[in-house]
Amino acid sequence: EKGIFEHFMLKEIHEQPTVIRRIMKGYIHDSSININQSLLNDLKQSSRIYILAAGTSMHAGIVGKKIIEDLIKKPVEVHIASEFAYNTPLIDPNAFFILISQSGETADLRTCLTKLKKQDYKTLTITNVITSTLARESLYALEIFAGPEIAVASTKAYVAQIAMLFILAYALSDKAIDIQYELSKTAQAMENFLLSDSHIRDLVVKYINTKHAFYIGRGMDYATSLEAALKLKEISYIHTEGFAAGELKHGTIALIEDKTPVIAIISHESINLNTRSNLEETVSRGAIPIVITLESLKSDGDDIILEDVHPLLTPILTILPAQLIAYYASYELGYDIDKPRNLAKSVTVE
Ligand code: M6R
Repeated sequence: EKGIFEHFMLKEIHEQPTVIRRIMKGYIHDSSININQSLLNDLKQSSRIYILAAGTSMHAGIVGKKIIEDLIKKPVEVHIASEFAYNTPLIDPNAFFILISQSGETADLRTCLTKLKKQDYKTLTITNVITSTLARESLYALEIFAGPEIAVASTKAYVAQIAMLFILAYALSDKAIDIQYELSKTAQAMENFLLSDSHIRDLVVKYINTKHAFYIGRGMDYATSLEAALKLKEISYIHTEGFAAGELKHGTIALIEDKTPVIAIISHESINLNTRSNLEETVSRGAIPIVITLESLKSDGDDIILEDVHPLLTPILTILPAQLIAYYASYELGYDIDKPRNLAKSVTVE
């Protein structure tokens, strides 16, 4: 049921702080992590981790790579499931595979899993549907407790997947992080941001008549840019690209026209100035700049400011304005927000 919300997507966006708290309840008890010990041992013994997924779940995988590599210093590769299935790269013999799928039914991943099992690789599925095919057929499964996700555009499952990867990586690491505090703080920051979204709607109304839009970012913010662009294009049909901020000038900047919105995501000090100067490069070609950033990095004229959270958890927060931008763009253009054209909730054909 949609309750007070006009669409499932808006309801699911607003559920996200609760989803973070629910996943904490599921896996963290008195600051210790409750995850199957043989899964943790297998992950520890592996020499390399491969993450396979599609669409939004693949973007969560890219964020997960950064989290895992930062916390446990083990190499992680992220692959698009449909590519991996038929263009399999060279695999480290001591590899461990993590499959991420909200539905647990995505055909591209099922093909990958069948092949991996034939070769005796160890597999974990991270999913929202613990009774799904992928969850049943992989060696291990972890549930993300996001609750049923009805809108085709995935929102709450994405943040839950990232939180799950953070909890899993923390369980394998020896870093001293107060995980309960950091996740609760993130949930609170999400809630505070969602209390007032009218400025996002105003921003969207101002720039809705555009054919193209760009999200740019570096590092974690690049992953968020990819996800932000997918959200906007899949429900508003505005052509949107997510781009590595520094790569834009190597060709794609040619697409910037007068009044093309370019949205920069900036959540780390180390990339703040570089990304801002990439944004300036687009402004001198006529772009309208929009900045999504954190309190500690804000500068005059920034449009959307979020509270500071643990540096590995910023993607859970910076995606919120992008989800709302997508929602309001689709709303203003009068489209079927929860059921965009040409798309199904779960893609069960290859
Ligand atoms: O159920 P899955 O997570 O395996 O689905 C993967 C993609 O089909 C899915 O994330 C898709 O990209 C969404 N429509 C994005 O909002």
